[in-house]
Amino acid sequence: MKAIELRNKYLNFFKRHGHKIIPSAPLIPENDPSVLFNTAGMQPLVPYLLGEKHPEGTRLTDYQKCIRTNDIDEVGDNRHLTYFEMLGNWSLGDYFKEESIKMSYEFLTKELEIPAEKLSVTCFGGNETLGKDEEAAKYWQEAGIPKERIYFLKDNWWIAGETGPCGSDTEIFYDTGKPKCSPECNPDCDCGKYVEIWNNVFMEFFKDEKGNITPLEQKNVDTGLGLERVNMLLQGKQTPYETEIFAPIMEKLEELQKVDEIESRRIVAEHLRSSMMIISDGGRPSNIDRGYVLRRLIRRMIRHLNKLQINLEELPKLIELNIENLKEMYPELVENKETIKNVIIEERDKFQKTLVHGEREFTKQMNKLKEEGKDTLIGEIIFKLYVTFVFKPEVTVYLERENGLISAKNEFEKLYKEHQALSRQGSEQKFKGGLADQNEKTISYHTATHLLHQALKIVLGDHVKQSGSNITEERLRFDFTHPQKMTPEEIKKVEDLVNEQIQRDLKVTCEEMSYDEAKESGAIGLFTNKYGDRVKVYTIGDFSKEICGGPHVEHTGDMGTFKIKKEESSSSGIRRIKAVLIK
Ligand code: ALA
Repeated sequence: MKAIELRNKYLNFFKRHGHKIIPSAPLIPENDPSVLFNTAGMQPLVPYLLGEKHPEGTRLTDYQKCIRTNDIDEVGDNRHLTYFEMLGNWSLGDYFKEESIKMSYEFLTKELEIPAEKLSVTCFGGNETLGKDEEAAKYWQEAGIPKERIYFLKDNWWIAGETGPCGSDTEIFYDTGKPKCSPECNPDCDCGKYVEIWNNVFMEFFKDEKGNITPLEQKNVDTGLGLERVNMLLQGKQTPYETEIFAPIMEKLEELQKVDEIESRRIVAEHLRSSMMIISDGGRPSNIDRGYVLRRLIRRMIRHLNKLQINLEELPKLIELNIENLKEMYPELVENKETIKNVIIEERDKFQKTLVHGEREFTKQMNKLKEEGKDTLIGEIIFKLYVTFVFKPEVTVYLERENGLISAKNEFEKLYKEHQALSRQGSEQKFKGGLADQNEKTISYHTATHLLHQALKIVLGDHVKQSGSNITEERLRFDFTHPQKMTPEEIKKVEDLVNEQIQRDLKVTCEEMSYDEAKESGAIGLFTNKYGDRVKVYTIGDFSKEICGGPHVEHTGDMGTFKIKKEESSSSGIRRIKAVLIK
């Protein structure tokens, strides 16, 4: 079975069980700009897990494109991926533990024909406030998993980030048939015998910023099955790189390489796919946030192409080959082919220049040290080369050795850890500000974003398209396509137009309709295939009509005065506006 067949089997199985198939949201969250990328199928569904009504009902299923970059430096081994596809099914206050477990078991054993003996499960082992999840264990036993293969673990609890919907989970493991590494070996052990394939989260709680856990209005189920992993296991392969998702590009790299290095081939294949998917969903390289993640992915890929001694002029052909191979799974890649190529090639060229500058900086620092009669490159310099020039410390250490210097790599590592902790905090903050945390201020900014979007279209032209947005309690940030800097007159016109609509105290209404009807009605929004058949359309008086998940103010009247604080370039062809509402 190929990955796409596995995906279709999953979606159709849940469709037969009363679920509506909804499309994947883009990798870059549109209505929840507070996270860098979607990292799980539940992320775009947070408002609905919290109780908002989903236009498609209470049983949903989809495949979600995901990026997780915590393990970026592990890519190249036999299992870590930055981009992956998560198959999921959701109950929004509909079924709970019993039906969820029954369906998972049926899908794995009947639909995928995995022998029941190959499956083990873990259930929540209890903590100070909540008991062991005997209930889930009972349903597993009823389904067909014997007691000996049901394990209770304390950390079977799932939440995305620090706050939001959460609950105990039950995880399903596939036994690869390897011998146990010790008599105690169980699914919690990462010797490789047991591989986690599916996680069913019973989301019935909400965790707030103070750490309080309270019951949600409704009991939900959120599940996630890793497509690449299950695909690999079903094909009896040892790594995802041997499956049809990566095999063609791996073979091509082997053909082109002058140095044989499997880890580098995997890194190139993996990062190329991730970069293509991010670019296709609107991401562009930059020095901050998600743009920086994309930049790192592309640059790391290029370094490994260099390591394999593959001519970088081959890149366009490699991209084309990959699109050809993945287009059945992701038709959007064909549509965005030229953009993908241009962005990667442009970044390649920038990186080559940076490498030259980085080496120059290294030489400068080295000469300075030598003049001072020192022979140790301090950690701070290695760190600067890493952050500014994306110079891997290994590269620097290599150059140091070449030049007879002693490295202060330990010092670098300390700085690096601090840097990582800061970025992590940053991401957690970001999740906090997300849809899980709507209040009067963020809701007003949400509506202001729609007004701004429409005003920009009127003042600058119809080519203006939203390419990202971010809302905090203090301000909104809006990225859009426009080739040049806005003039002060244009900025003023946009402000006036938005303020006029606020003063008119327009009524905001929401209607559910089919995607085609929405398009027909002239609603704006990104018309990719990311919306379900039924969508919500928010109308602001006679001024704006936009597809959106909400929420919004009911009347524009008391939103405050709209003021643009900054208009700047975000990346090539994309402008960024920061604006506030003053009350
Ligand atoms: N949201 C759960 C996960 O990502 C299913 O594991």
